[in-house]
Amino acid sequence: MIENKSTHFKCIEFNPQTESLSLATRVIPVLKPNEVLVKVWGSPINPSDRLFCQGLYGTKATQPIVPGFEGSGTVVKTGIGFMARRLMGKRVSGAVQGADGFWAEYVVVQANQCLPVSKGISDEVASCSFVNPLSAWALFEPLRKGRETSFVQTAAASQLGRMVIRLSQKYQVPGIHIVHRPELVEELKKEGAEYVLDSSRPQFESDLKAACERLQVRYAIDAVAGEMTGVLVRSLVSGGTVSVYGVLSGKSCEVPPGDLIFRDIQVKGFWLSYYLKEKNPFEMIRLFLDLKRLLKSEGATHISRHLSLLEVIEDFKRTPPSSSHGKTLVMPFK
Ligand SMILES: NC(=O)c1ccc[n+]([C@@H]2O[C@H](COP(=O)([O-])OP(=O)(O)OC[C@H]3O[C@@H](n4cnc5c(N)ncnc54)[C@H](OP(=O)(O)O)[C@@H]3O)[C@@H](O)[C@H]2O)c1
Repeated sequence: MIENKSTHFKCIEFNPQTESLSLATRVIPVLKPNEVLVKVWGSPINPSDRLFCQGLYGTKATQPIVPGFEGSGTVVKTGIGFMARRLMGKRVSGAVQGADGFWAEYVVVQANQCLPVSKGISDEVASCSFVNPLSAWALFEPLRKGRETSFVQTAAASQLGRMVIRLSQKYQVPGIHIVHRPELVEELKKEGAEYVLDSSRPQFESDLKAACERLQVRYAIDAVAGEMTGVLVRSLVSGGTVSVYGVLSGKSCEVPPGDLIFRDIQVKGFWLSYYLKEKNPFEMIRLFLDLKRLLKSEGATHISRHLSLLEVIEDFKRTPPSSSHGKTLVMPFK
């Protein structure tokens, strides 16, 4: 199944010593039991990939490694084992952690980290199957399960933020959606978000406090961190929780201790890796079924740019473009 019986493939390598990306050629490895070789169709550039390539992510590289935590493609070879063999020839989406990733023509993936892609799901959506849809689903869990009845989220125009907006519509849970540029307010309102606030406006914090009071918001999900976490802590009603899951501001959380002590506000972190580690095999099967359904609706990702491996390396030398209107996809065979 591998064209011309290729023994080598092209990829992007991240060198942690120089913190730089370069084009490299690797040997196709011998597969271990329950591993599959995926011919990559596409892989997104997520904020977590950018953090990884700056040496700032939860898992750190010690030697040159291929980035790209998730992607899609076709299984062209398998190791021994039923789990791997059943995927032969199938279109799959997959995820890796602590191993070479998807910014390559070929990637080795554990069979249990692959999801066969259902008919009707585009290659673009399949390429972004794991990181954001599963995180949106997990962060929305207290609202789905009725433990919280309203919420506020930051970076609402992100792909994950838009998934949360769609989930809040589906489950009819009111939410306050914070964006950091005025033009995004109308855009999200057109998508059905009722309360959208622009954090660049001078009266932002007082508007947020009033909205949280009106909706009795006790739950915040924050991808921005820095000063924003403190604003959320001050705005939630007493007893509330801020779940910090991103660091788009690039800054440490600034939190007023008085609200933690005297208003019983909690600030905690969320990382998808830990969320998944806590699941038993039955819960994982259930989660994958939820995910398959999610990808057809609330969990779909919009793609705005397609780049070849070489174009990605050039792109990383420049300031990243606005990501509010869709993701950039790495296309190794472009
Ligand atoms: N903890 C976890 O397990 C986990 C899992 C998945 C995702 N995440 C996090 O979820 C967040 C969203 O991911 P995504 O892939 O959906 O992002 P995305 O689609 O790439 O969008 C990023 C959004 O953040 C906005 N933004 C950038 N810098 C900002 C700042 N300083 N303040 C406010 N907004 C800012 C961007 O606006 P413009 O570019 O238009 O300015 C854009 O709307 C990221 O922080 C990511 O790391 C965490």
